[in-house]
Amino acid sequence: MASPRGEFRSRLGFILAAAGSAVGLGNIWGFPTQAASNGGAAFLITYLLLAFVLAYPALMAELLIGRHTHRNMVMALGSLPKRNALASLGRLTGIGGLITASMILSFYAIVAGWMLGFAASYPLSAAGMASTGDWLVTFSSPRNLALMLLFMILTMAVVLGGVEDGIERWSRRLMPLLIATLTALALYVLTLEGALTGLKIYLLPDFEKVLSGDLLIDALGSAFFSLSLGVGTMLIYGSYLSDAENVPSVGAQVALVDVGIAVLAGFLILPAMYVADARGVPIFNDAGGLLSEDTLIFTVLPALFETMEGAGTWLATAFFALMSIAALTSSISMLEVPVAYLIERHDLSRRNATLLAGGVIAGFSALIVLNFGTLFGWVITISTRYSQPALGILICIFAGWLWQRDALLQELKKNDVDAEQRLFWKIWPLYVKWLCPVIIGVILAQSVL
Ligand code: PFF
Repeated sequence: MASPRGEFRSRLGFILAAAGSAVGLGNIWGFPTQAASNGGAAFLITYLLLAFVLAYPALMAELLIGRHTHRNMVMALGSLPKRNALASLGRLTGIGGLITASMILSFYAIVAGWMLGFAASYPLSAAGMASTGDWLVTFSSPRNLALMLLFMILTMAVVLGGVEDGIERWSRRLMPLLIATLTALALYVLTLEGALTGLKIYLLPDFEKVLSGDLLIDALGSAFFSLSLGVGTMLIYGSYLSDAENVPSVGAQVALVDVGIAVLAGFLILPAMYVADARGVPIFNDAGGLLSEDTLIFTVLPALFETMEGAGTWLATAFFALMSIAALTSSISMLEVPVAYLIERHDLSRRNATLLAGGVIAGFSALIVLNFGTLFGWVITISTRYSQPALGILICIFAGWLWQRDALLQELKKNDVDAEQRLFWKIWPLYVKWLCPVIIGVILAQSVL
């Protein structure tokens, strides 16, 4: 029977929802363009290492705490320690997660709105509505505001449906569509002239570029952002996971899907850039480096699609629809963080909680749109570069130090009587206790100083 606070109906539903949260603009836009500018396969290898060595254990900390407590982040972290002062620290960390998730959503919704605008503009222009199409792809506050609101309404509509009928149902529909579209686009682009040059850049490592401290910070930031860590999205999804599921194994599958889709996206984006190059679209700046990430997505790719005439309209629509879908399956997980808290802590109905949290976040997002030059970059830096890793450290400390070892083992034994014999039990507790906080701390300190 479904639990009154919601529970994923199936393992696949959970994996698609959690992978949906993880797979977003970061995978399809951020990762490939970063790899392109930072040594190709060398970045890829560093990223994979960081993802499995640092991000996976942190992901497990969130999923296990969520599944153990079956509560939202604030109440979950508040309930783990025995001492009152530490319980307050737990609640505070939870509030920090909730605020960070809301901040990320507030800028994410603006960028996702652009994706919706680009996706709609191509068919509209082809149907003779060129001026509307142009408006949708031209930077302006009214456009940014309208599209952001549209995206927030879509996000709220899914979250209103609840865990099974909203989040799980839509993840099951959208994720397969996303994977199919991404694969089809990559296969098509790989047949075009110039694609092989991009493929070489992607797959041949240039190690000189990787071993810099800055790059490690970037790769760690990407891995954390990419797995949606630190802000309670994975914790809340874990809290809706049935006690019958084996958390280490479903967690590994989520990480694999996330990393797999980032790698797959590289097979589309890098070749596409060099196809554009072969067709005379500029892709390098004056210094000889690749153009910045946003220019690549919003200028280079549209220019490439334009060189393709009829097929270009289809490809462009499919590509930006893909980006919109990836953003939506992530944004619902961010909104669920404050919504679950309002339902469980303040007894709001799901409807009111969604309207309140969604409304406040949309309001903040509107503030960013109206002060774009000052606020946009600032909110991104604070939330993703500093807050996410800092919260990640705290969650590892809660899982490694403040959660009693026996209780943790009981949690793992819920569906695996031999949990004690597993490699996971031999390595992971020590790992989240010592290695994760220290390494994340060092990298974070480097980026603050
Ligand atoms: N993981 C998402 C991406 O790669 O685009 C971004 C994200 C989603 C970050 C949810 C944080 C979050 F809570």
